[in-house]
Amino acid sequence: MSVLRVENGTGSQEASFRVSALFFVQDKGLHDRIRQDLKAFERSAPVEGHNETFRIAAKFLETENDLRGELKLLLVRNVPTTIILISDRLIVRDLPGHVVRDTRGRACPGPIVDDVRRQFLISPHLVGMVGLHEGPAKHVRDIDRTASVDGLTNGALRDSILNVALSLRMKAPPPPRNGEQMPAGEAIRIETVQSETQLRQCFAIRHAVYGQIMRYLPDEIIEHRARIEIDRFDTRSIHFAAVRDRTEDVVGTMRLVLNHPNPRSRSANGSGAFLPFPLRAHEWWCQMIARRAGPPFISKVMAPLSEFGVFPILLSTDFRRNQKQVIDEALYGCELSRLVILPAYRGFGISRVLIKAAIAKAFQLKRKSLLLECIPKHVEMYAKYGFKRLDGAPHSRPSDLDQYAIGMRLSMTQNEVAGRAKQYLLQILQQQRDFGCLRYGPFEVEGDVALPSSVDDGSQSDASYF
Ligand SMILES: CC(C)(COP(=O)(O)OP(=O)(O)OC[C@H]1O[C@@H](n2cnc3c(N)ncnc32)[C@H](O)[C@@H]1OP(=O)(O)O)[C@@H](O)C(=O)NCCC(=O)NCCS
Repeated sequence: MSVLRVENGTGSQEASFRVSALFFVQDKGLHDRIRQDLKAFERSAPVEGHNETFRIAAKFLETENDLRGELKLLLVRNVPTTIILISDRLIVRDLPGHVVRDTRGRACPGPIVDDVRRQFLISPHLVGMVGLHEGPAKHVRDIDRTASVDGLTNGALRDSILNVALSLRMKAPPPPRNGEQMPAGEAIRIETVQSETQLRQCFAIRHAVYGQIMRYLPDEIIEHRARIEIDRFDTRSIHFAAVRDRTEDVVGTMRLVLNHPNPRSRSANGSGAFLPFPLRAHEWWCQMIARRAGPPFISKVMAPLSEFGVFPILLSTDFRRNQKQVIDEALYGCELSRLVILPAYRGFGISRVLIKAAIAKAFQLKRKSLLLECIPKHVEMYAKYGFKRLDGAPHSRPSDLDQYAIGMRLSMTQNEVAGRAKQYLLQILQQQRDFGCLRYGPFEVEGDVALPSSVDDGSQSDASYF
């Protein structure tokens, strides 16, 4: 891919990831302060976990027309480009210097934000935004980072730009790596989560990548000391982990969300016996983790599901309205979700093995379809396994992630898909190596897991646990 260029000129093999930083700043003082130091924004910086360098080209645009013209030019380029727009015009103000906020103190994105996002939705390019505004730098919908102009230094602004650059780097294809680039003797095994400790590490990876790096999550979760991300679907999921053999650290994760009765009603009538065992163990560990992490997590895990809400994808209004087929299938389907790999382990094929594990588990549990929601950039990645885009509205707003998404479905009843799924399952059950440094571990929860007969609602968090 072109934005990922290996430079050969001086014999250096360091790859670079190019970013265009476009400044559109109307406040005169701020404008002049940034502009006089523009070169400082172009200094290269390492890309965390990628063995690459960010190469940034900074440009000032004086009017909205200049900005529109520049974006138009970038959009017609064949070469995939990464653009970061830095502006004090992204957020709604009712008076100069006075940002409009809702009752929770959140500012609102101006029309320019949605306009830019939509232009890039079906393009190969990636766009990110840094919003400059007065008052606290809280998350604003569709804006990757906000920076408060009160006391803002160019150094702090550069950090915000680099943060957005890293989140865009995570959306672009990973660097092509092979097993040899793994530290010597390193091997990764993919398995069904085997313990509460492993599951907590999975939630910590989601927090690190979806929260700290990509900023998909609300501020209160990103800033919470527990440093985990967990929601109500986790108690209804089979969780998978990619684990380093040498250290037992989890480096990647994914969940398969299933439809099953509410845990409370089940424990009351004892009808849980038919559930696959990983699900019951995982449900219990989730509740323990949430209980120890404290109130925001307990209410997330215990929140009741709406009639349509058996899968995350069904919370997206566009799908609910347009995808009757998906709703009708909900009882017999499942959803692949929260597939996340740590930056330093991207590009080794770990997600491939996790996706195969999800397909194999869906087959083993006789699910009729496997659904997912992904950002437009990932459609091709899933299409390789036979996932097809859902018809109808091409994009939707998942309720939990600050992104536009596309719905996809793998029909498990098609002979070809079922045949492949069976092959994956055999490969996994025989714990074969996928390739190189990757192998499969256990597909069920092994060993004894003490399961309670009822779950308390836990009002006590455990500060020493995290
Ligand atoms: C997307 C992600 C899960 C991929 O994991 P990974 O282990 O680095 O990917 P792999 O090495 O297994 O790559 C598998 C294939 O998918 C492709 N791919 C991976 N990420 C891609 C992306 N962002 N865009 C396009 N293709 C991508 C790879 O190029 C590779 O292609 P190949 O089979 O032709 O060689 C990982 O980069 C990640 O965690 N990203 C951030 C979180 C996220 O967005 N998750 C997806 C939720 S839908």
